[in-house]
Amino acid sequence: MSELRYDGRVAVVTGAGHGLGRQHALELAARGAKVVVNDLGGDRAGVGSSAGPAQDVVEEIKKNGGEAVANPDNVATAEGAQAIIQTALDTFGKLDIVINNAGILRDKSFKNMAPEEFDSVIAVHLRGSFLVSSAAWSHLRDQGYGRIVNTSSPAGLFGNFGQANYATAKMGLVGFTKTLAHEGKKYNVKANAIAPVAWTRMTEDLLPADFSEKLGVDKVTPLVAYLAHESIEVSGEVYTVGGGRVARILVAEGAGWGTNDALSVEAIRDNWEAINAAEPYTVYKNVGEQMGPLIQQLSS
Ligand code: NAI
Repeated sequence: MSELRYDGRVAVVTGAGHGLGRQHALELAARGAKVVVNDLGGDRAGVGSSAGPAQDVVEEIKKNGGEAVANPDNVATAEGAQAIIQTALDTFGKLDIVINNAGILRDKSFKNMAPEEFDSVIAVHLRGSFLVSSAAWSHLRDQGYGRIVNTSSPAGLFGNFGQANYATAKMGLVGFTKTLAHEGKKYNVKANAIAPVAWTRMTEDLLPADFSEKLGVDKVTPLVAYLAHESIEVSGEVYTVGGGRVARILVAEGAGWGTNDALSVEAIRDNWEAINAAEPYTVYKNVGEQMGPLIQQLSS
């Protein structure tokens, strides 16, 4: 089996001081990439800051013979995101890979969720991924090469009690990823997303303790590294990954039902079964394709 290498590539991994991001940074560096290890160094809720976690990971990479530089900036501010990308350009002279991984949790039942708890989670996960990708975009476009991996979540794709803020951000990243895939196509910039499950400080009181060892971060990172490799063909896709299992998550549309007559509440009721039928379904590549069945109906 030939080894997948990243020699000559420069990667930015956000939130790489702990958990999944740390593992992504270690793996990419072990396979030859030069890595910017970004981490603000706060707690699980994003409170506080410290340059320590990013620096520790950089030292670990260097000890293993790899190349890395630490960056302690905040992905959620435009200046911070700019500084993260600038660190790659100043230190290594280029940028090829962006792994948007930084994240915080502020779980609350919706009834108790304050606007600040919504905004802060959106700011780190969604706005942070936007800001860092935005700062990187012109460099990737101009060089005609880039790989972006965003970190979504099963909680976003399927919903989860107590995570209205987090789920909104994580589903937002799906639309973000799919749009970057369209806009990056001409420039060989590919964007994909993962929806991981792993035992980290973020999930240690949420996941079943029995599976802690089987849900190691090392069982997520290989997919991230693969999606960051030059050989991948896919773009705009979302994969769930954890515990050794990997699967594509599809945004699909059922065959549905339609009429060119006036649409009434009763017609909706009477065709409810067909409207809700999950099969047959279609996975559209873009919004133009998705309009196909409607156009067909309007033309009939
Ligand atoms: P973690 O808490 O171990 O790591 C997140 C890292 O992001 C921390 O090191 C933190 O300091 C850093 N960070 C937080 N805010 C930041 C900011 N504003 N700027 C820069 N760095 C910041 O958690 P974990 O589990 O490794 O999470 C990584 C990503 O994976 C997150 O986006 C999370 O939402 C996502 N995820 C994790 C799952 C899991 O099962 N562990 C499940 C689904 C998604």
